[in-house]
Amino acid sequence: MVESSGASLLVASNRGPVSYAVRDDGGLDARRGGGGLVSGLSAVKGDGGALWVCAALGDGDREAVRRGVGEPGVRMLGIEPDVFHDAYNGVANSVLWFVHHMLYDIPVSPVFDAGFRRRWAAYEAYNRAFADALADGAAPGAAVLVQDYHLCLVPGMLRERRPDLRIGHFTHTPWAPPEYFRLLPDDIAAALLRGLLGADRVGFHTRRWAEAFTACCRDVLGEEYARGERATRVDVHALGADAGFLRERSRRPDVAERMAALRTQVGEADREVVVRVDRTEPSKNIVRGLLAYRRLLERWPEWRGRVVKLAFAYPSRQDLAVYRDYTAEVRRLADEINESYGTDGWQPVVLHVEDDFARSLAAYRLADVALVNPLRDGMNLVAKEIPVVSDDGCALVLSREAGAYADLGEDALVVHPYDVEATAEALHAALSMPRDERARRTKRLAAAATALPPQEWFLAQLNALRG
Ligand code: F6P
Repeated sequence: MVESSGASLLVASNRGPVSYAVRDDGGLDARRGGGGLVSGLSAVKGDGGALWVCAALGDGDREAVRRGVGEPGVRMLGIEPDVFHDAYNGVANSVLWFVHHMLYDIPVSPVFDAGFRRRWAAYEAYNRAFADALADGAAPGAAVLVQDYHLCLVPGMLRERRPDLRIGHFTHTPWAPPEYFRLLPDDIAAALLRGLLGADRVGFHTRRWAEAFTACCRDVLGEEYARGERATRVDVHALGADAGFLRERSRRPDVAERMAALRTQVGEADREVVVRVDRTEPSKNIVRGLLAYRRLLERWPEWRGRVVKLAFAYPSRQDLAVYRDYTAEVRRLADEINESYGTDGWQPVVLHVEDDFARSLAAYRLADVALVNPLRDGMNLVAKEIPVVSDDGCALVLSREAGAYADLGEDALVVHPYDVEATAEALHAALSMPRDERARRTKRLAAAATALPPQEWFLAQLNALRG
């Protein structure tokens, strides 16, 4: 039943704008989330009639839900922990993430067995919880923007409950081509597509992912898609970096402190600095990035002692063995490079694994070369943030498989992410690039990176939906 009151604008995403931790004294600490998604969607928070629906992710969030603690305009769903775990880890981050980033080791995985079917049922229940909350909270004719691969079924479920709503969905990952998408069991592949086609508009960061989505619809749904009972428009909105926020935040004293600490770790002032910043997960291709750096030191010995790689690999999704094992491999290889090449006064790789946004900004400012070489990536905001924040200009080595390539390809040194030898060559070229050329390219990269800042990106989707 449609309520007479309710929000006129709703956003749904797995991770919300705030998270909670239980202190030793039993109180709750609220922590604001960071990143482009949160800053883009934060436009919602300025709108009095808006509601952001998200999941309670950990014990602190669940305790906040239990105690009825929350922020105005945010509704956190206390989904049962087992259901959440199976939906988030068991389906979204181990199956959908692996399909869209094409990460499977095909001879042994995936295996879709009875255990997977149970996890899929949890994914359906988790999507249903979002659809119910949105249906409850929306005013007649409201606009609803659903985010990402965690919530593919929500548009269809919500459409059934509330045909009066304007529904949009945005995917932040790549979209797999049909041959790969069809690794999924047929009924599940179809359910995911039908779920998304419940939306009036679906959005992607690049034309390439949008075209892969429509190709999957044609291939998997065939006639049913061609008949198109509900016409869903497919849009491209390339999220950009938030220049104002980044420039202001990167000038604060905590960033200056971290720059001083990093300079000490780099050692001699005239050493070149290669920077990479990622959540540690296999699509980011951190291991091949380290192999390429090792090859650089081997093939061009003149760089030994003259360059330091700052690699920030922040732990992500550590409940899953595949992500933990990848983090361990990154650590092992960094140690191995330091043991093989390091000297008393020179550590070739400085690896940090604990999340620290101020330290990432410090590294962005210091970078002479940035390495962003994902196997596939929906966008990759790091590639867009570094040129905006860079102090003296930074050469960008960029994977052609990152969504950001569509916006930054012209002024980056573009690499094939599996080609370690070519990546080593690109690092050598980037390190050898004259300073004035680096500075010129950085200026152009920064302009392209900020073409659609988060708030405009969000409003573009909203206007398309309401238009
Ligand atoms: O790239 C997709 C995405 O959902 C991003 O929007 C976000 O930065 C990241 O994955 C977050 O992953 P998680 O919430 O699992 O830490």
